[in-house]
Amino acid sequence: MFVDHLSLLDFRTYASLDLPLDRGLTVFVGPNGVGKTNVVEAIDWAANLSSHRVASDTPLIKTGSERAIVRIRVRRATQRTILEFELNSGRTNRVQINRAAPVRAREAMGILHTVVFSPEDLTLVKGDPGHRRKFLDDLATAMRPVLVAARSDYERALKQRNALLKSARHSRQNAESHRATLAVWNEQLARAGAAVMGARLQLLKALEPEVDLAYQQLTDGPKHVALHYECSSLDPAADPAALEHFSVADLYQLMLQAFDRVERQEQERGITLVGPHRDDMMISLGDTPAKGYASHGETWSTALALRLGSWYVHVADDPNEGAAPVLILDDVFAELDARRRQKLAQLVQRAEQVLVTAAVDEDLPQALRENPHRVVRVSPGQVGVEDSPADEAPPDRGEHD
Ligand SMILES: Nc1ncnc2c1ncn2[C@@H]1O[C@H](COP(=O)(O)OP(=O)(O)OP(=O)(O)O)[C@@H](O)[C@H]1O
Ligand SMILES: [Mg+2]
Repeated sequence: MFVDHLSLLDFRTYASLDLPLDRGLTVFVGPNGVGKTNVVEAIDWAANLSSHRVASDTPLIKTGSERAIVRIRVRRATQRTILEFELNSGRTNRVQINRAAPVRAREAMGILHTVVFSPEDLTLVKGDPGHRRKFLDDLATAMRPVLVAARSDYERALKQRNALLKSARHSRQNAESHRATLAVWNEQLARAGAAVMGARLQLLKALEPEVDLAYQQLTDGPKHVALHYECSSLDPAADPAALEHFSVADLYQLMLQAFDRVERQEQERGITLVGPHRDDMMISLGDTPAKGYASHGETWSTALALRLGSWYVHVADDPNEGAAPVLILDDVFAELDARRRQKLAQLVQRAEQVLVTAAVDEDLPQALRENPHRVVRVSPGQVGVEDSPADEAPPDRGEHD
């Protein structure tokens, strides 16, 4: 698939932007801070309804404005879809598909797929478990948008259960009635949690070989990458390998049993101690964990392999024509040595559309510079397109404005 048109209003640095795009390689070039990432961030946001840089939408709205508008036209084989989002600070976003009546945000998920590589990806390997949980959940949700419901049910039930555990510490509430209310939340949390864990485990199975393959392609090295699910609900005495064969119903039971096991600690601490919000994805490189052991270069290669592996998983999940996600490489080449730049450049050329940001032309690997590509020069608040194939064959402008 590819994005063939992007319009922005009051998004980050852009008061107004109207940018035709095309399949193939487009490179956004310009000095630091001019707004290159802002453009690709808008495209990624339209795919995942979240930014790879910030947790809330407020920073995406141009300072001084009340709302931002992102309009994107997606081409998938012969099909065109227009996605339009109005991002409102502190209010629900308005979402329209093909200019029809507004729909719920989750309806727009799964129409555009992106995989973003960025310097922040190092945190996938080195950072807190939360980064790895979000990575797994976002990837699983992009492929199965129904998971949005389980994730939000889980978040809501977790808040309620934590509030109950906390209040029970301070109140002299009847133990019986407390237990009965807790049982209701246990049940709800286990139901949503089992769906989230089930999706993660299924994804990990598909992801591990692809990440390892990507690591081999990037490094030609002797080490292999392995991914393991660290499950807080599993009895510490149990065999972690057993998880692989668990159904969602088994995971539900597992969570209920875990609540019984940690009941006393939860009462003492007043928080939920088991569940997918406490789980992690353990990344091993060779015989050691990547976190805390891998060298800087190995950490980078592992992070890149996680993103490339995500792209391979997407492609295997939906091998139909035009289904491959848009690849976005935000400022990654500057961070890599020449060999890995070349390798990554060769690998990404399989995508139908590749969007790259770079501060200077020299950051681009030779393998990309030699190929035909469009250059978009970015200056504060605006862009100028050079070498555009669209100049030769103007895109159909009839569908927007
Ligand atoms: N909501 C906003 N309103 C106005 N300006 C913003 C907003 N959010 C970010 N900016 C500005 O956008 C600029 C950063 O843009 P962006 O991250 O796209 O830069 P970049 O071209 O990718 O730079 P680099 O090469 O350093 O990665 C900053 O100067 C920041 O102040
Ligand atoms: Mg940037």
